[in-house]
Amino acid sequence: MENFTFHNPTKIIFGKNTIPRVGEEIKEYGLKKVLFLYGRGSIKRNGVYDQVVESLKKNGIEWIEVSGVKPNPVLSKVHEAIEKAREANVEGILAVGGGSVIDSAKAIAAGFYYEGDIWDAFTGDYEIEKALPIFTILTISATGSEMNGNAVVTNEKTNQKYAFSSEHVYPKVSIIDPTVQFTLPKEQTVYGAVDAIAHVLEYYFDGSVCLVHDRISESLVKTIMEMTEILIEDPENYEARANLAWSATLALNGLTDAGSKGGDWASHAIEHSLSALYDIAHGAGLAIVFPAWMKYVYKENMGKFERFSKEIFGLEGSGENLVLSGIE
Ligand code: NZQ
Ligand code: ZN
Repeated sequence: MENFTFHNPTKIIFGKNTIPRVGEEIKEYGLKKVLFLYGRGSIKRNGVYDQVVESLKKNGIEWIEVSGVKPNPVLSKVHEAIEKAREANVEGILAVGGGSVIDSAKAIAAGFYYEGDIWDAFTGDYEIEKALPIFTILTISATGSEMNGNAVVTNEKTNQKYAFSSEHVYPKVSIIDPTVQFTLPKEQTVYGAVDAIAHVLEYYFDGSVCLVHDRISESLVKTIMEMTEILIEDPENYEARANLAWSATLALNGLTDAGSKGGDWASHAIEHSLSALYDIAHGAGLAIVFPAWMKYVYKENMGKFERFSKEIFGLEGSGENLVLSGIE
């Protein structure tokens, strides 16, 4: 088991009818005006937008809106929002959506205080020192961005999709109401599940040896797989949505990192290049890359790959046959 520091400052409010609490949380934090950031309209179609607006009004929070954040979010939108945030002198960001919206919010929050181009944080030329406080309402479970300090954005001029990680951009509060995910298209649910599984496995297969870590990881992967099977048939199954949502958050909030060697992340790096070049969904890209990566590396760590086949799929036997059946 490796040494680790585990510190996650994000407050999670989880469950049915939790979105109306957002205004109160922002007010308690002492903010009077926020930038309300969202995507391309799903929140207007499923009622989330109305719930947010009502709660902000009720709590006397002013806001400006920036919408149109696209999946595989782009730097130009981040720049546009930083400008607007500065003009309106907002005190925080409210991100309502999935990883694309929340990641953009993190770049905006840090970029607000930085005189240069916030892209410098992605290339490693600027270490983030300060950011606006971020509040999120999650509408698709996948990335764990609602409870971590990572952001991934594409610079569409250079076709680079890069990430940064900073303790300053952990959301202060994230609200996860699984019922709002009833409206997700089937393939988005599956992409999200694949992404969450990949996060767990990046750590699982990094060569670390830690039993509690292995067992937490296996439990998350099995839960995500079972819940996804249910949701493909029954997208409004609350228990399945809730279990999937919390598993996906735990998959990349530091829990599966603790005791590991920090993760492999080769599959993620390859996928980020694919989604930068071809604009495919991150989870779809991982579904192609991750099994191929497993086939490429399994001989380096036969014992762990055998364990994976046995624990996750209940397969028996040993050696290459067992490992390859698990991967396939
Ligand atoms: O734009 P809208 O209209 O909101 O539609 C979105 C979008 O088209 C839709 N959607 C979201 N919630 C919905 C809904 N449709 C109906 N009902 C709802 N409740 O779903 C589509 C995908 O949204 P997006 O935010 O792109 O998905 P996801 O959460 O998978 O985020 C993917 C991005 O996050 C990055 C990925 O690379 C990708 O750019 N990642 C971020 C990470 C992090 N911050 O830690 C780690 C990950 O490994 C990943 O790299
Ligand atoms: Zn991912």
